[in-house]
Amino acid sequence: MCGIVGYIGKQGAVGALIKGLRKLEYRGYDSAGVAVLDGGAMLVTKTPGKVAALSERVRAEWPAELLASARAGIAHTRWATHGLPTQSNAHPHLDETGRIALVHNGIIENYRPLRARLEAKGHHFHSETDTEVLAHLVGEFFSGDLFQAVCSALHQVEGTFGIAVFSSLEPDRIIAARRGSPIVVGMGDGETIVASDASVIVAHTHRVIFLDDNDVAVVKADSVDVRDLDNVPVNRAVAELGMDVESAEKGGYEHFMLKEIHEQPEALGNAIRGRLDFALGSAVLSGMNTSPRELAELKRVIMVGCGTSLHAGLVGEYAFEELAGVNAEVEQAAEFRYRNPILGSRDFVIAISQSGETADTLAAVREAHQKGAFVMSLCNVVGSTIARETGRGVYLHAGPEISVASTKAFTSQVAVLLMMALKLGRGRRLSREHGLELARAIESIPELVTRVLVQDDRIRALAAGCVRDEHAYFIGRGPLYPAALEGALKLKEISYIHAEGYHAAELKHGPIALLSKGTPVIALACDIPGKDKTLGNVEECRARGARIIGVVSEGDGEAAEHMDECLEIPRTHPLVTAIPAAVALQLFSYHVARLRGCEIDQPRNLAKSVTVE
Ligand code: M6R
Repeated sequence: MCGIVGYIGKQGAVGALIKGLRKLEYRGYDSAGVAVLDGGAMLVTKTPGKVAALSERVRAEWPAELLASARAGIAHTRWATHGLPTQSNAHPHLDETGRIALVHNGIIENYRPLRARLEAKGHHFHSETDTEVLAHLVGEFFSGDLFQAVCSALHQVEGTFGIAVFSSLEPDRIIAARRGSPIVVGMGDGETIVASDASVIVAHTHRVIFLDDNDVAVVKADSVDVRDLDNVPVNRAVAELGMDVESAEKGGYEHFMLKEIHEQPEALGNAIRGRLDFALGSAVLSGMNTSPRELAELKRVIMVGCGTSLHAGLVGEYAFEELAGVNAEVEQAAEFRYRNPILGSRDFVIAISQSGETADTLAAVREAHQKGAFVMSLCNVVGSTIARETGRGVYLHAGPEISVASTKAFTSQVAVLLMMALKLGRGRRLSREHGLELARAIESIPELVTRVLVQDDRIRALAAGCVRDEHAYFIGRGPLYPAALEGALKLKEISYIHAEGYHAAELKHGPIALLSKGTPVIALACDIPGKDKTLGNVEECRARGARIIGVVSEGDGEAAEHMDECLEIPRTHPLVTAIPAAVALQLFSYHVARLRGCEIDQPRNLAKSVTVE
């Protein structure tokens, strides 16, 4: 999705802004732009396409002296919502006078009536965007104080925004504000950076302020003053960023996705470390902040999320029901938020989100709060909106996930959900003995994953056989059913092969009609309850000529006999099996996409964090 960078300070602003935009590329975007002052006049360059193209244009078109001397400016990567990804629709947008430049993430919902009103007053627009309307509105309110003009404009808009505003009239400051779209301000030594994502900031400083909704910040090179929309000062704590520069780099891997796949033993180790209690056969998750009584009285667990996070919830569903004997449901967050769900104080709503910024999941959290449910979150990004709004929950500690396709966040989400279910189970009906068995299996996850990763060559060979396929089907049962859904999502996201995941039993209720000679079916037939039935479904596919690629348990010769080709993954507790299986499918998708020459880290049309509905 869109990305914002603002810089003011002692370094060359142009270099800092372009470097910042590069850090945001992983979020997915289709055009980019930058604005600085040239001798008191606002200079804006924008282009469809990549940041590299923007950088080339800036270096070719802007005076060399300006590249070195500019000390402040704003920049943006745009993921098109209102209007095509063209130069005119790219940000920054200017007000009517050309003296105020603005970049924006989010959606101004009432931009049409606002634009009509401004046009009636003589304003001329050069784009189809909602953002240009906001830039003009700020200009319309400007009467000598940019902060006040921004506040007045924001009072009139409906929708979501993270913005940075820069003006030739007040060149010593950037005004930043947020409502529903993250803005973080980094306070360095003689420089201040505004960004929509902390990965931009770590190269400069680790001291940050996360703006809250309706905060407006006056950002100068050596100070940050945060107020609300009515000019009342608000106190925002300075936080210390936990990430380092290295974790935002590829570290020798060809792609972030590959790096993140290989980081999983460590990421999972971080998610699990210190959270298992072997004496009690339970888990210690203090962030859940629940009393034994609340656990015992709990009636239902409802997990909400989108995409990969939703799939993690589906694995969790099996764990909560089996271990804790509690009714567990998983719901697509966008559906949940508008469905008028029936909730009460004995319902645990768990919002699952890597980024902690997904608009639909955030809205689901607010709906659950509204209805009095017990809400917690499972996020990776520390200080993200969902984590802060839920106030309780568990962080993944998987480290920054840069690749659009989620990998280490998924496996960490599953590991944490298993620990949550274990804790809940031990507070209810699970015996110590069974709890201990699962705790030991969870402890071994990093090693299980390593044993899959060392099979990279084998997985690449399997992938090579699928490079020319245009359709693929993934099947599984039990916890391997969500793993099949996730495998299909990964393949379609990055290789653009049409891929679908189905419950193995569901295939014959329709989708089997699509199978013909050579269609690849990836069958997750590891040794868990239901395996024999999956093998029966595999035979149904073979009878239609499908080519079966099996994922089976180590040493399971019987299962392997049903497959045309096969990969063996380590044996473990049935609830844990989804993790090594998912890792194998991540590597499989990665190699298929790489061999097809796809742009793996930033797949077309996709964004890392989806902050619009
Ligand atoms: O940040 P979130 O976990 O809330 O994101 C949810 C989905 O947008 C995300 O998982 C998406 O499906 C990924 N691109 C999958 O690889």
